[in-house]
Amino acid sequence: NTGALWGGRFASGPADAMAALSKSTHFDWALAPYDVKASAAHARVLHGAGLLSEADLATMLDGLRRLGEDVASGAFTPDESDEDVHGALERGLIERVGPEVGGRLRAGRSRNDQVATLFRMWLRDAIRRVAEGVLDVAAALVEQAQRYPDVAVPGKTHLQAAQPVLLAHHLLAHAHPLLRDVDRLVDLDRRAAVSPYGSGALAGSSLGLDPDAIAADLGFDSAAENSIDATASRDFAAEGAFVLAMIGVDLSRLAEDVILWTTSEFGYATLSDAWSTGSSIMPQKKNPDVAELARGKSGRLIGNLTGLLATLKAQPLAYNRDLQEDKEPVFDSVAQLDLLLPAMAGMVATLEFHPQRMADLAPAGFTLATDIAEWMVRQGVPFRVAHEVAGACVRAAESRGIGLDELDDADFAAISGDLTPAVRSVLTVEGSIGSRSARGGTAGVRVAEQRARVADRIAAL
Ligand code: ARG
Repeated sequence: NTGALWGGRFASGPADAMAALSKSTHFDWALAPYDVKASAAHARVLHGAGLLSEADLATMLDGLRRLGEDVASGAFTPDESDEDVHGALERGLIERVGPEVGGRLRAGRSRNDQVATLFRMWLRDAIRRVAEGVLDVAAALVEQAQRYPDVAVPGKTHLQAAQPVLLAHHLLAHAHPLLRDVDRLVDLDRRAAVSPYGSGALAGSSLGLDPDAIAADLGFDSAAENSIDATASRDFAAEGAFVLAMIGVDLSRLAEDVILWTTSEFGYATLSDAWSTGSSIMPQKKNPDVAELARGKSGRLIGNLTGLLATLKAQPLAYNRDLQEDKEPVFDSVAQLDLLLPAMAGMVATLEFHPQRMADLAPAGFTLATDIAEWMVRQGVPFRVAHEVAGACVRAAESRGIGLDELDDADFAAISGDLTPAVRSVLTVEGSIGSRSARGGTAGVRVAEQRARVADRIAAL
């Protein structure tokens, strides 16, 4: 069959089960547009090296252009007999320009340098798209922070009431990791922008082809320094799988907050109808499925990363067929994020928060106890002592079922001579939040500056 790229030394074709095992067109067809583009670049360097006449180059480029259009429209697809995307496309080219010209394209390249190059091209496009989606989620968080600039929420550690913070501060705390993930994608792109083309099977090309010319033609920053490394390494793919998994994990932490916030017990927020689902039996249900799928898919993305690392582990240099297993996990991680990111952005953008509910709960659980201790420190009391005294205030209030602000002057005086009625000045949620005004703190002025900086970074990325 014309789709086979090897066979000269074989008396018979592969067994059916061999061919079935070997086949990769059902997933590597995603590389087809890149393969066509890279083949045109390869044809130009063949011409540059004097291995393809002007007329043959023109025929070949025209054939590749038509093949590219047919791939895009779906008019050309892999056959049952095609082993992989590269064989299928060579068949398609020969069908269009004949074997005399079509058969010249493969000189000086191997599927090993080809697939490594195409995968890098595919990944660079994919992570650009993913980065856009991540920025949309971050932008939705900033928008919500702007909508509720001064709403207090109970800040938690260990999921226990800790200290009051601004809702905007908490929302922005989810935006920062997402921006770092985008930084990671940008950084990864720099390492992925090295072209393996010209490395051949592993040893480089003997035909006088110019790897730098093809690298530049395909938008890479440079050609690979080492042909063995270029065909054998997949750390760019593993790094991609890591950053995609990290995005999944960061989204899952945001998702978990949304799941908690929208329970009736928390009651901080309500999901919009468009971004929630109902139950087939319980008529009252409004379920946070977007957030739960984010949580679920993050497990899948972690699996894709660990699976790929296991595939790479201990492979001898250079190319081994194991490496054909590199693409599906990364393709899948991108496909999942392509689905998840717009839904997360939509869910976050349409969350309706309940400021009164959050404000009511902000002081609950004695979240102002730290403020008592720090007020005493400002009066000159050692923190060790202040911590004990504030703890005694909590004990007294808790035993009587009242809040810290409901202790009267006599209660304070009985607990410690240092607790004058002036302590009341810090026993409000607003006072507590406003006092944390150093860089990075939850005070309204700092959070407003932070929000502006985050918005600027989103716009700049
Ligand atoms: N389909 C292979 C891959 O994805 C590329 C082909 C290399 N095959 C070979 N026999 N050297 O890695």
